[in-house]
Amino acid sequence: MSINGNYFAGVDVGSLAAKSVILKDGEIFATGLVPSGVNSVESGLNALNLALESAGLKQEDLTYIVGTGYGRVSAPYANKAVTEITCHAKGANYLHPTVRTIIDMGGQDCKAIRIDQDGAVVDFAMNDKCAAGTGRFLEVMAGVFKVELKDLGAIALSATDTVPMSSTCTVFAESETISLVARGEKPENILNGIHHSIANRIAGLFSRVGIESDVFFSGGVAKNSGMKSAIEQALKVTIVKPEIDPQLIGALGAAVIARNFSKKEGLWAA
Ligand SMILES: Nc1ncnc2c1ncn2[C@@H]1O[C@H](COP(=O)(O)OP(=O)(O)OP(=O)(O)O)[C@@H](O)[C@H]1O
Ligand SMILES: [Mg+2]
Repeated sequence: MSINGNYFAGVDVGSLAAKSVILKDGEIFATGLVPSGVNSVESGLNALNLALESAGLKQEDLTYIVGTGYGRVSAPYANKAVTEITCHAKGANYLHPTVRTIIDMGGQDCKAIRIDQDGAVVDFAMNDKCAAGTGRFLEVMAGVFKVELKDLGAIALSATDTVPMSSTCTVFAESETISLVARGEKPENILNGIHHSIANRIAGLFSRVGIESDVFFSGGVAKNSGMKSAIEQALKVTIVKPEIDPQLIGALGAAVIARNFSKKEGLWAA
């Protein structure tokens, strides 16, 4: 069999990060993750090239590429574009077939998705109206407390109290946080309150779509242990432990869909 028959790629260009996954014989062969720049086509190519380089492959070696995310439209490297919701659903289902509910928290929006046993979307709800409750919001908070984003969740988990956050807008929440610090509230307790207020917003999204076990948390924010714990409490669920970096799930789903499309189009046979 030719080498060309074996490789499929998914490229997910999000608002904050571009991700790629290359599948070989159904297994994850290589991945790439880079920050998104102003040019979404270039960001996608950078993520794809990173995975190609680490795999020792060229773009011509790929049978089929599916683009997804914010920057999927007009990506010239992709054979097809598919929505992010569909890709997160397929990616989560591919790794964890028992998953029926997905929370995707990325840089600029948050999605509640319910799927069936085949990974097809049953229903979804999305908060894309404002930055509060997204990865971007948490980045702003990490900046306010001058801590690394990757440490934010653990700091919130070390709290001894929960300081309620009343502002629901990033700009107001930032100034409210600053006045809470000035009032002498401990950073970990404020951060704990912030994580819980975001989790409660997410619970609001699920009041529309419903929750069914198992529950999966995808997107970059899923790496935040404090967010995971706050969501588990707000939704009264246990989140499945991800097998790979949860930020790559959309790109994985796109690669799985690339494999399915190319099979349907007769480009390879199992
Ligand atoms: N180690 C980490 N710990 C905590 N948060 C993280 C970590 N790495 C990334 N993030 C968060 O992940 C977010 C980016 O996630 P992701 O790549 O899923 O977003 P995106 O797909 O670019 O955005 P969108 O889907 O909204 O367009 C960043 O805003 C950042 O807050
Ligand atoms: Mg995304």
